[in-house]
Amino acid sequence: MSNKEAKAHSLLFMFMFLFVLNFSLSQVDDLELLLSFKSSINDPSGFLSNWNSSTPLCMWHGITCNNFSRVKVIDLVKKNISGIISSSIFYLVEIETINLSNNQLLGEIPKDLASSVSLRYLNFSNNHLTGEVPKFSFSLEILDLWGNLLSGKIPSQIGACSNLQELDLGGNNLEGRIPSSISNISRLQILTLACNKLVGRIPRALTKMKSLKWISFGYNNFSGEIPQELVGLVSLSFLDLAYNNLSGQIPSSLGNLTNLQHLLLFGNKLTGLLPRSIFGLKKLIEIDLSDNYLFGEIPELIIKLQSLEILYLFLNDFTGKIPNALASLPRLHVINLSSNSLIGEIPSLICNLTSIVVIALADNNLSGIIPPCPGNISKSLTVLDLWKNSVHGPILETFGQDCGLRNLNFQGNKLEGSLPRSLANCRNLEFVDIGNNKLNGSFPYWLYTLPELQVLGLRSNKLRGVLHSSKTSHPFPKLRILDLANNEFTGPLPKGIIKNMKAMINLKEQQSSTQYMRGIYYPYHFNLTVKGFYIKLYETTTTFASIDLSNNNFHGEIPSVIGKLSSLRGLNLSHNSLSGHIPTSMGNLTNLEWLDLSSNMLTGQIPSKLIDMTFLTFLNLSNNQLTGPIPQGKHFNTFENGSYEGNLALCGFPLLKACNNDGRKQSPSFLKEADDSETKINFGWKVVLIGYGCGLIFGVVVGYVTFKNGEPKWFVTLYHVKYHGKGRR
Ligand SMILES: *[C@@H]1O[C@H](CO)[C@@H](O)[C@H](O)[C@H]1NC(C)=O
Ligand SMILES: *[C@@H]1O[C@H](CO)[C@@H](O)[C@H](O)[C@H]1NC(C)=O
Ligand SMILES: *[C@@H]1O[C@H](CO)[C@@H](O)[C@H](O)[C@H]1NC(C)=O
Ligand SMILES: *[C@@H]1O[C@H](CO)[C@@H](O)[C@H](O)[C@H]1NC(C)=O
Ligand SMILES: *[C@@H]1O[C@H](CO)[C@@H](O)[C@H](O)[C@H]1NC(C)=O
Ligand SMILES: *[C@@H]1O[C@H](CO)[C@@H](O)[C@H](O)[C@H]1NC(C)=O
Ligand SMILES: *[C@@H]1O[C@H](CO)[C@@H](O)[C@H](O)[C@H]1NC(C)=O
Ligand SMILES: *[C@@H]1O[C@H](CO)[C@@H](O)[C@H](O)[C@H]1NC(C)=O
Ligand SMILES: *[C@@H]1O[C@H](CO)[C@@H](O)[C@H](O)[C@H]1NC(C)=O
Ligand SMILES: *[C@@H]1O[C@H](CO)[C@@H](O)[C@H](O)[C@H]1NC(C)=O
Ligand SMILES: *[C@@H]1O[C@H](CO)[C@@H](O)[C@H](O)[C@H]1NC(C)=O
Ligand SMILES: *[C@@H]1O[C@H](CO)[C@@H](O)[C@H](O)[C@H]1NC(C)=O
Repeated sequence: MSNKEAKAHSLLFMFMFLFVLNFSLSQVDDLELLLSFKSSINDPSGFLSNWNSSTPLCMWHGITCNNFSRVKVIDLVKKNISGIISSSIFYLVEIETINLSNNQLLGEIPKDLASSVSLRYLNFSNNHLTGEVPKFSFSLEILDLWGNLLSGKIPSQIGACSNLQELDLGGNNLEGRIPSSISNISRLQILTLACNKLVGRIPRALTKMKSLKWISFGYNNFSGEIPQELVGLVSLSFLDLAYNNLSGQIPSSLGNLTNLQHLLLFGNKLTGLLPRSIFGLKKLIEIDLSDNYLFGEIPELIIKLQSLEILYLFLNDFTGKIPNALASLPRLHVINLSSNSLIGEIPSLICNLTSIVVIALADNNLSGIIPPCPGNISKSLTVLDLWKNSVHGPILETFGQDCGLRNLNFQGNKLEGSLPRSLANCRNLEFVDIGNNKLNGSFPYWLYTLPELQVLGLRSNKLRGVLHSSKTSHPFPKLRILDLANNEFTGPLPKGIIKNMKAMINLKEQQSSTQYMRGIYYPYHFNLTVKGFYIKLYETTTTFASIDLSNNNFHGEIPSVIGKLSSLRGLNLSHNSLSGHIPTSMGNLTNLEWLDLSSNMLTGQIPSKLIDMTFLTFLNLSNNQLTGPIPQGKHFNTFENGSYEGNLALCGFPLLKACNNDGRKQSPSFLKEADDSETKINFGWKVVLIGYGCGLIFGVVVGYVTFKNGEPKWFVTLYHVKYHGKGRR
C-alpha cells in the first residue's frame, strides 16, 4: 500500500466512521437529551421509569419517533410530573410536538425555545411556569401556555412568528398592551389572551388578521371603545371581550361579522341601544351582553336569529316588553333577562319553547299572570326564575307528569291562592322559593315526598293551619333549608316531621344537578334572614342547613327531638308562643351558628349544655320568661346583654345582676369585638369569590354573599362560571 493509498484508506475509513458515528450519535443525542430532561423532573407516578438505556428510545413512554427513529413527539399530559423544564428538549433535532400540559412544572420556560427549528406544537398549559414569555421559534404553529404564572409583557417579537395559527397566553399575569406587531401574524386563527392583566385599547390593527376565527380577551383591563375596524374579520366566529373596562356603544359594524356565533361582551361599561345590525348575524348561537349599561327595547327583530340558543341580557337597563318573537326561536335553551326594567306580561314562552332549559326574568317590573299553558309547561324547562316582579293571580295547575323543573323561584311577587298540587309532579325539584307573596291555604304537605327537594322557602305569605305529621316515613328526605317565617301557622311544632328529616340529621354533601345542564350553569339564590338582615346564599354543593319558623303562631313545647338535627347551622323559632323549657338536647346541635328563640314564653333555666355549641356566634333568648344563671364559658362569653334582655330572672355575665353563688368577676364589655355591627357577619363561613379567579374551572363549591342594600356584584359573576369552560379553547 502506498502512502497515498494508505492515506486515502484511512480518510475513507474516517469518513465511514464519522458517518456511522454521526448516525448513531444522533440517536445517542436524542437519548442523552431526553435523559437530561428527565433528570430535572420529579416523576412520582413512575411514568418515566422505562426511560433508560435498556429500553429502545422509541418505546419510551410518551415518546413517538418518526420514520428515521428520531424523537418527534413528547406527550406527557397529566402525568403529575414536577420540577423544571430542561432546555435540552429544544435541541432534539426533529422534534415537532411537545405536550406537557396539566402537570406541576415550575420555573421559567428555557430561552433555548427560540433555537428549535422543527417544533410546531408546544403545549405547556396548566403548569406553574413563571418568568416572561420567551422568544420562540419561528417554526411554531401552535403555542399554548394557558394557566401558568407568566408575567411581564407580551414580547413584540411575536409578530415575526408568521407561522403561528393558534396562540394561547390566557390565564397568566401578563401586563401591558397587546403589541401591535401581533397583527403581522397573518395566519393566526385563534388568539386567547383572556384572564391576564392586559391594558390599553383593543388594537385596531387586528382587522388585518383575516384568518382570525377566535378572539378571547375577556377578564383583562382593556379600555376604550370596541373598535369599528373589527369589521374586517370576516372569519370571526368567537368574540369575547367580557369583563374589561370597555365603554361606548356596541359598534354597528359588528353586523358585518357574518360568521359570528358567540358574542360575549358582558361585564363592561357599554351603553346605548342594541345595534339593529347584529340581528342580521344569522349564525349567532350565543349573545351575552349582561352587566352593561345598555338600554332601549329588545326588538322583535330578534326573530331573525333562528340559530340562537343562549341569550343573556341581564343587568342592563332594558325597558319595554319581552319580545314575543323569543317564543319563535326554536333552539333557545337559555333566556336570562333578569335585573332590567322590563314591563308587561310574561309571553307564553314557557309553553311554546320546546328546548328551553332556563327562563330567568327576575328583578324586573313584569306584571300579569303566569301564562296558563294550554298543554303543560315545556318538559325541558328546568329553571324558572321570576323573583321580584309583580306577577299576580293564582299559580295554575300547569305542572304535568313529565315536569322537569328543578329550580322554581317566584319569590317577591303578588301571587295568590294556594300552592298547586300538581307541583308534586315535578319530581326533580330541588329548590322552591315562593316567599313574599300572598299565598293562602295550608302547608303543601303533598311536597313531602319530593325526593330531591333541598330548599323550601314560603316565608311572608298567609299560609295557615297546623303542620300535619307525615304519613311517609321520611318526609323531605333531602330538605336542608326550610323557611316558613311570617305566616299564620299554628299548632305544635311538627315533631313528626322534624325527627325524620334525614338531610338535617346527617347532611352529606348534596350535589345539586341544576349546575350544568347542557353546559349551562344556573345557581339558585336564596334570601336567608339572619341577625335581622339578609344573607344571600348561592350554592352548587353544600352542607348548609337551616330552619326558620319565626313569626307564626306555633305553641306548645320545643320538642326535644330537635336535638337530632345535628347538621343545622341556623335555627329561628322566634316570635311564636312556644312555652316550656329549652330542651337540653339542643346542646347536640353542635354545628349551630345562630339561634333565635326570642319573643316566646319559654321558662326555666338555659341548659348549660348549650355551651357545647361552639360555632354559635349569634344567640337571642330575649323576651321570654327564663330564669337562673346564664351558662358561662366558650362562646357564651361573647354574647351581649341584648341576647338575654326581657326575661324574668336571669343572672350572671353579661348581665349586671350577679347570681347568688357566682362570685365571678365580670369581664368589662369593651372586650367585645368593636365591629360586631350590622354591616359585618362573620360566621367563619367561607366566602368564595366566585367568578373572578380565572384559574377557577368548575371548582365552585359554596358561596355565601352578605349584603344589606342592593345587589352584590357577585350576583353577576356567578352566572359566568360557565365562562371558564367557554373562554378557554
Ligand atoms: C429500565 O426500564 C425497564 C422497563 O422497560 C425496567 O424494567 C427497568 O427496571 C429499568 N431499569 C432501570 C435501571 O431503571
Ligand atoms: C413513514 O413510513 C410510512 C410507512 O412505513 C409511510 O407511509 C410514511 O409516508 C412515512 N413518512 C415519512 C414522513 O416519510
Ligand atoms: C402527584 O404527585 C404528588 C407528589 O409530587 C403526590 O402527592 C400526588 O398524590 C400525586 N397525584 C397523583 C394524582 O398521582
Ligand atoms: C398533546 O398534543 C398533541 C398534539 O396536538 C395531541 O395530539 C395530543 O392529543 C395532546 N395530548 C392530550 C392528552 O391532549
Ligand atoms: C393542550 O393540552 C390540553 C390537554 O392537556 C388540551 O386540552 C388543549 O386543547 C391543548 N391545547 C392545544 C392548543 O392543543
Ligand atoms: C409587520 O410586517 C411588516 C412587513 O413585513 C413590517 O414592515 C412591519 O414593521 C411589521 N410590523 C410590526 C409592528 O412588526
Ligand atoms: C385595572 O387597572 C386599574 C388601573 O390601572 C387598576 O387599578 C385595577 O386594579 C385594574 N383592574 C384589574 C381587574 O386588573
Ligand atoms: C376605565 O375606562 C375609563 C374611560 O372609559 C377610564 O377613565 C378609567 O380610568 C378606566 N378604568 C380602569 C380601571 O382602567
Ligand atoms: C358592512 O356591511 C354593510 C352592509 O351590510 C356594507 O354597506 C359595508 O360596506 C360593510 N362594511 C365593510 C367594512 O365591509
Ligand atoms: C304558542 O303555542 C300556541 C299553541 O300551543 C300557539 O297557539 C301559539 O301561536 C304559539 N305562539 C307562538 C309565538 O309560536
Ligand atoms: C329578602 O327578604 C326580605 C324580607 O323577607 C325582603 O324585604 C327583601 O326584599 C328580600 N331581598 C331580596 C334580595 O330578596
Ligand atoms: C344528644 O347526644 C347524646 C350523646 O351525644 C345522646 O345520648 C342523646 O340521646 C342526644 N339527644 C338527642 C335528643 O338526640
